[in-house]
Amino acid sequence: MDIPRIFTITESAHRIHNPFTPEKFAVLGAALRLASGARVLDLGCGSGEMLCTWARDHGVTGTGIDMSPLFIGQAKRRAEELGVAHQLKFIHGDAAGYVAEEKVSVAACVGATWIAGGVSGTIELLARSLHAGGIILIGEPYWWQLPPTEDVAKGCLAHAISDFLLLPELLASFGQLGCDVVEMVLADQDGWDRYEAAKWLTMRRWLEANPADELAKEVRAKLSSEPRRYATYTREYLGWGVFALMLR
Ligand SMILES: C[S@@+](CC[C@H](N)C(=O)[O-])C[C@H]1O[C@@H](n2cnc3c(N)ncnc32)[C@H](O)[C@@H]1O
Repeated sequence: MDIPRIFTITESAHRIHNPFTPEKFAVLGAALRLASGARVLDLGCGSGEMLCTWARDHGVTGTGIDMSPLFIGQAKRRAEELGVAHQLKFIHGDAAGYVAEEKVSVAACVGATWIAGGVSGTIELLARSLHAGGIILIGEPYWWQLPPTEDVAKGCLAHAISDFLLLPELLASFGQLGCDVVEMVLADQDGWDRYEAAKWLTMRRWLEANPADELAKEVRAKLSSEPRRYATYTREYLGWGVFALMLR
């Protein structure tokens, strides 16, 4: 079981697989006022940076699940490196339908809401693992500026303008799903650069090491086109944030 290989090629050197920086995760951890020993569940945990740093900085315990064996291996090594492996469990698997055996204080899906068919399904899924009064974290894109045309939305790698909402509408939509928005931390363009531009050096080095690979042509084309596409579209139009929700 694995995610499409193109992601593990382009993001093999990432610790964080979204436009958040280590500073943004630190701000979010502090904003949530995490108690030592609090249990955190992270569906689509990637390389585990959120759980590992919160275990180190706030003493949380937790479980992360991800479909990528590469990312889960990186998460386990990061937990060892930070001396928090005894506080955390990383599982390689499909997070669709995953419900924790013991209820958690924080149930998160930070940038992988397709796991349960979108934001609404993901909130429902996470709620099944949550203590009464616990916090749900949803990491999700929104339109920083509304694209003027469908072509611009496609340039941002969306299927259509209707894929995402403007921030006020996204916040209002959480209310319509029965949640209070109790905190949020938003990514900025520097964070987008760390996420997107970091892929370019990774791709360049991968191409040098794997010139005969079956994906070499695709990676070559991506490396040639991505800087301009990203600067024209994603960097100008797409926002991203983590939203902390409590069920009403
Ligand atoms: C945008 S990344 C976010 C990763 C992580 N939350 C972070 O902040 O670094 C999405 C993650 O979802 C994982 N993923 C995709 N589909 C999945 C599934 N069905 N079950 C578990 N993980 C999945 C990918 O491997 C990837 O690590």
